[in-house]
Amino acid sequence: MHAVDVAPQIAWPEQADTRVPYQVFVDPAIYEREQERIFRGPVWNYVGLEAELPEPGDFKASFIGDTPIVVTRGKDGRLHAFVNRCAHRGSLVCRELRGNRMTHTCVYHQWSYNLEGDLIGVPFRKGIEGKGGYDADFDPGQHALHKLTIDSYQGLIFVSFARELHALEDYLGPDMRPWIDRLFGRPIQILGYSRQFIRANWKLYAENVRDPYHASLLHLFHTTFGLYRSSMGGGVTMDEQGRHDMVQSYKRTEEQETAAYKNAGLRTYKKGYSLADPSLLQSRPELEPQLTNQIQTIFPGLVLQQIQNTLATRQVLPKAPDRFELIFTYFGYQDDDDELRAIRLKQANFVGPAGLISMEDGHATEIVQQAIVRDRDAASYIAFGGDSVENQGNLLTETAIRGFWQYYRGVMGFAA
Ligand code: FES
Ligand SMILES: [Fe+2]
Repeated sequence: MHAVDVAPQIAWPEQADTRVPYQVFVDPAIYEREQERIFRGPVWNYVGLEAELPEPGDFKASFIGDTPIVVTRGKDGRLHAFVNRCAHRGSLVCRELRGNRMTHTCVYHQWSYNLEGDLIGVPFRKGIEGKGGYDADFDPGQHALHKLTIDSYQGLIFVSFARELHALEDYLGPDMRPWIDRLFGRPIQILGYSRQFIRANWKLYAENVRDPYHASLLHLFHTTFGLYRSSMGGGVTMDEQGRHDMVQSYKRTEEQETAAYKNAGLRTYKKGYSLADPSLLQSRPELEPQLTNQIQTIFPGLVLQQIQNTLATRQVLPKAPDRFELIFTYFGYQDDDDELRAIRLKQANFVGPAGLISMEDGHATEIVQQAIVRDRDAASYIAFGGDSVENQGNLLTETAIRGFWQYYRGVMGFAA
């Protein structure tokens, strides 16, 4: 039986493109509908990197929305994905984050499955001495794990509940693919992970990463040490539907930036600070074009990051209307020399749960969640940089946030 898709009652404010009712961040009925329409809809969900599963038998547990899944590499080297829920009584089959094994056995009654998710073993299937067990017509072929659609692009693995959907390359689109190619154009090496539980709605993070405007105001570290300033060169590019986006910034001359900040009189522009260990800021030019920041989002829950020399994927996983998990996977390239690898590891301190920059992003989403909890009918205001959804060649804009909401309203069936 399918879940009954009852439309949640919602009244989007009149100026729909520049207002977001707080209800979408707190309403359990909307959360349920997102699971059906977005995460189980005709959408590709990022679940990990091929570099995490190089060998046959390697597996990785992940999620699509809040549904647990497993990705495996088969004996023939192909990738498979299935829902991590035993066909017997519904237990998690795989209880580890990652590892290597040729069969997956459920701990509850030990049904076992191969790397494609087919049932291959049932203890006491014929009972003991003719007593108990299953009838002769029990067919293991009817009791496989729920198999999912899987594909990868440049080593990024995506999974979908839908059987028929746009090819992954088309889903990513011609405006986004070159920027993925920029980061994943040569063999990568996984450097590590960090995981963070945040007490806020996942869409507040979707807004945060599409918001170049906050970065030079909220993040004192960023601005003080010149990693990111709104006076930098850069801009925002979206895919045709406004669902994915790419924010990039690059340094102009010191004089141009300093003048722009002095004139604006911002609290975040302070001279005279220095780091006890300035090596934290030492970076090496590498990827072309030269950018200080590339923050790219792929709907619904993937963020690709280059900040100086730190490279990471971020996976956003909703857990409840007011909770999500954020997983950073840090990487470099197989041909990195020791010095560059050391720079990447040190600069990993910019991001993650205790990072010098992105700790503030998690907190920003939480203080929104805390403030809006009782005011579903009130709305946020996203008119910075105009009211349209179009690419912009500067960093003082909320255009990509408007793009996200426009697409979201369409998928969710929320008429303005
Ligand atoms: S629930 Fe998995 S074997 Fe029974
Ligand atoms: Fe931020």
